[in-house]
Amino acid sequence: MAPRIGVFDSGFGGLTVLRELKTSMPEADYLYFGDTAHLPYGAKSVRTVAKYAIASARFLESRGIELLVVACNTATALALDEIKSAVRIPVIGVVEPGAERAASKSKARRAAVIATEATVSSHAYSRALEKLGLEVTEKACPLFVPLVEEGWVEHPVTENVAHIYMDDIFGNGATHPDVLLLGCTHYPLIRPLLRRVVPQHIEIVDSAESTATKVVGQLGSQSDAGLPGQLRCYATDSTDKFRRLGEKFLGCPINNIELVDIES
Ligand code: DGL
Repeated sequence: MAPRIGVFDSGFGGLTVLRELKTSMPEADYLYFGDTAHLPYGAKSVRTVAKYAIASARFLESRGIELLVVACNTATALALDEIKSAVRIPVIGVVEPGAERAASKSKARRAAVIATEATVSSHAYSRALEKLGLEVTEKACPLFVPLVEEGWVEHPVTENVAHIYMDDIFGNGATHPDVLLLGCTHYPLIRPLLRRVVPQHIEIVDSAESTATKVVGQLGSQSDAGLPGQLRCYATDSTDKFRRLGEKFLGCPINNIELVDIES
């Protein structure tokens, strides 16, 4: 039997993680939940994010998943323990795998993390990286999420904004990190732009690939005669908007989307 994996995010961004999961484990069936009615999580409090994340996780659990991936960096950073306590299935977040990837790449043992305001305020990435022996610089980049959702992934405005944010990290001549960890689901889409803005010797990493590796490690390869699995998506707001934006994040058509209300 192919594994049935739930993937949860505040909206569309987690589809960047799903894309990696589908590459690593194409035979699995995926149930993706985007809490688009409550997007963005990145400017919300722990209490609010935990409440929405738990309701979303329980919804996916009720659909028979055997493992939940919290693809949202903000939900992982603010509420991973609460989500784990609220469901009976194994839960994997993106912060630890991302920190492990950054640690494996840093020779200077110094990393910079960019993320939403809420993720940075939680210092979840700092704790995870410091545990692995790295010094950490964190920087909130709240304008990136709306710019990516506007489709401005290659746009002069986004490039200007990126210069302003990155100069804060790399322009001060202080203790230089040699790894930049993209601690938000949306940032992989502007990775080519960031590559041009960030000094060339800085390695850019994100959590998506390392999270997929962790899921494969947990479930093992359960190939079902090579047949690709099914994808079913749930959104708490407009399914049309989910399809339009989601296809950009996933990089392929999305056909199966259901509108759900987790508040009732
Ligand atoms: N998914 C969120 C994250 O990875 C970004 C979007 C939001 O703020 O909800 O932090």
